[in-house]
Amino acid sequence: MKASDDREFARQHKSLKKDLERIDRGSLARRAVGDGEQVADLKKAIASLRTKLCDHFAFEEGGGYLQLVVAARPTLKHMVDRLRSDHDAILGALDDLVSAPGEEQSPEAIRSGFIAAIRHLRKHEANEMDLVQRTVNDDLGVAD
Ligand SMILES: [Fe+2]
Ligand SMILES: [Fe+2]
Repeated sequence: MKASDDREFARQHKSLKKDLERIDRGSLARRAVGDGEQVADLKKAIASLRTKLCDHFAFEEGGGYLQLVVAARPTLKHMVDRLRSDHDAILGALDDLVSAPGEEQSPEAIRSGFIAAIRHLRKHEANEMDLVQRTVNDDLGVAD
C-alpha cells in the first residue's frame, strides 16, 4: 500500500471512531425510541453511517490493502475473506433498517438492530486492526 493510502486508511479509521463516539454520546442507539420523530432521527443517523461505511469499505476493498495482505500473506486469506463478508453483512443490516417501511418495524426493533450493527462494526474494525498488526509484525519478523 502506498504511503498516501496508509495515511488515508488511518484518517478514515480515526474519523469512523469519532462517528461511533458521537453516536454513543448522543445515546441515539441506546435511548428508547417511542415517537415518530425519534425514529426519523435514528434512521437519519443509520443512513448517514451507512453512506460513510459504503465509501470506507469500498476504499478498503478497492484501495488495495485487502488484496495486498492476501498477496503478501496468503495464509491470512481466511481473515481477509471474513472481513469482506463483514462489509456486506454490516451494509445489508443497515440497509434493512433504513429501507423497511416504518409500519413494518417497531422503534425497538430499529434501535436494537442498530445496536447489533454497531457491535458487529466495532468487532470488525478490531479484527481489521489485528490483521494489519499481524502483517506489520510479519514484515518486522516479530512472532505472535
Ligand atoms: Fe473493513
Ligand atoms: Fe475499516
